[in-house]
Amino acid sequence: MKIAVLGTGMVGRGFATKLTSLGHEVTIGTRNVETTQTSKVGDATFTEWLAASGGIGLRTYRDASADADLVLNATAGVHSLEALESIGDEVLGGKVLLDLAIPLDLSNGMPPTLTTANSDSLGEQIQRAFPSARVVKSLHTMYFEVMLDPSRIPGEHDVFVAGNDEDAKEVVRGLLAEFGWPAKSIIDLGDITTARATEMYSRLFFALYGQLRTFDFNIHVVRAAA
Ligand SMILES: NC(=O)c1ccc[n+]([C@@H]2O[C@H](COP(=O)([O-])OP(=O)(O)OC[C@H]3O[C@@H](n4cnc5c(N)ncnc54)[C@H](OP(=O)(O)O)[C@@H]3O)[C@@H](O)[C@H]2O)c1
Repeated sequence: MKIAVLGTGMVGRGFATKLTSLGHEVTIGTRNVETTQTSKVGDATFTEWLAASGGIGLRTYRDASADADLVLNATAGVHSLEALESIGDEVLGGKVLLDLAIPLDLSNGMPPTLTTANSDSLGEQIQRAFPSARVVKSLHTMYFEVMLDPSRIPGEHDVFVAGNDEDAKEVVRGLLAEFGWPAKSIIDLGDITTARATEMYSRLFFALYGQLRTFDFNIHVVRAAA
């Protein structure tokens, strides 16, 4: 698939690298290509990181998304709507928009609070703002390295999907399978309004982190036998 990964943070870079290794054609989208090219990834510049990445492209958010089959939102959640506005509904229309952003406010330190909760969610805001996009909310209930490699956690554990478009959710299920998620570990919560629940889970996620002092954990829903 042609995939646009929006955002050049550790999550965007992690997804771009993994998706490329799986054979996808990846272009990273960024606010400002020139600024990003000279930014640092460890000791290297972003341009040097890209050169070693096996063919990942770098363009603006809009240009990266133009011919993508799937757009992955890995921007900072409080800025996601603004980032997506720069692309526009006419470009996003018909595309699968996999949203893993959380609207976290870190201005008062840890643990972060949510700028949107209870009766709304970032996932819904994105779907309302870009009605032709096929938004699927997934993966944001765990550390990104676990998203990309569920075998980091021993035993069974789960990932959620939410969205209004069944075909788009099927595309995302396929991607999750490529990352190593067994079908039985993918729980479809229903339409995009269920993103409220999974975004609010971040409060428990950070409370757990406060005690466990590791991000390498996930949850598993255990059911009574039928
Ligand atoms: N870290 C995790 O394990 C984890 C887990 C669950 C969910 N998430 C979610 O995944 C997303 C990405 O995480 P991250 O840690 O990579 O995020 P981040 O470093 O805070 O931000 C990601 C990117 O957002 C873009 N962005 C767009 N508009 C921005 C603005 N006005 N100010 C600052 N940045 C802006 C920037 O990319 P450009 O400069 O290239 O435009 C930036 O590199 C977040 O929404 C986060 O909540 C992360």
